[in-house]
Amino acid sequence: MVKAIGGWESIMKHQLRRKMMKRLRMLENRSKLEQLISTRLIQTSLWKESRKIGFYYSIGLEWDTHWLIDQALFEGKIVTLPRTNPDDKSMVFYRYIGRDCLENVHQNLWEPIPDEKRLIEANEHDFLLVPGVVFDKSGYRIGYGGGYYDRYLKNFSRPTISIAIDEQIIDYIPREIHDIPVGKIITNTQVIDCT
Ligand SMILES: Nc1ncnc2c1ncn2[C@@H]1O[C@H](COP(=O)(O)OP(=O)(O)OP(=O)(O)O)[C@@H](O)[C@H]1O
Ligand SMILES: [Mg+2]
Repeated sequence: MVKAIGGWESIMKHQLRRKMMKRLRMLENRSKLEQLISTRLIQTSLWKESRKIGFYYSIGLEWDTHWLIDQALFEGKIVTLPRTNPDDKSMVFYRYIGRDCLENVHQNLWEPIPDEKRLIEANEHDFLLVPGVVFDKSGYRIGYGGGYYDRYLKNFSRPTISIAIDEQIIDYIPREIHDIPVGKIITNTQVIDCT
């Protein structure tokens, strides 16, 4: 049965997401690309100047964030990770201090065990790393379809960055009213300023 998924923008996004995920699944040189993206990110002035960074704990086809998290901790930065609430599709970020403060919430998805002492408010972050599958140069993004980040970014006024490879950047992403673009995209070859 075909699920009703809204207007043409939503249908296009669904198709573009599926197509890109298929391409990403076929990539062979992932670790080289990951190395190029990570190196470029840690060389940005935003990274260097940031003390509190909101990450996600990458899984599946997402570009590795585990190395970046370790690097941030090594540099003495404060790392936070999201706890998702599927009921209202909201997120809360908690400070990450090691694997012991994570729990396996779904398949291979790990999230912080809620702990009020470690809660970090949205705008305390110096920047937020935002996941996505397809992007355009204006920073519009197709995520994984949950709307978690679009909801979170509504009340977020700090810089946002996404990581991707050049192939994930297309000319135009159909926009829906709730979509919020990211400020920068770091790829294997460039830093795209989306403003
Ligand atoms: N601010 C919001 N308020 C209410 N519903 C929202 C909001 N943002 C997104 N949604 C809903 O979430 C669903 C998924 O949105 P969308 O397809 O843009 O996901 P996405 O951008 O891929 O996900 P994410 O933001 O988690 O990366 C849509 O049905 C949309 O209506
Ligand atoms: Mg969206």
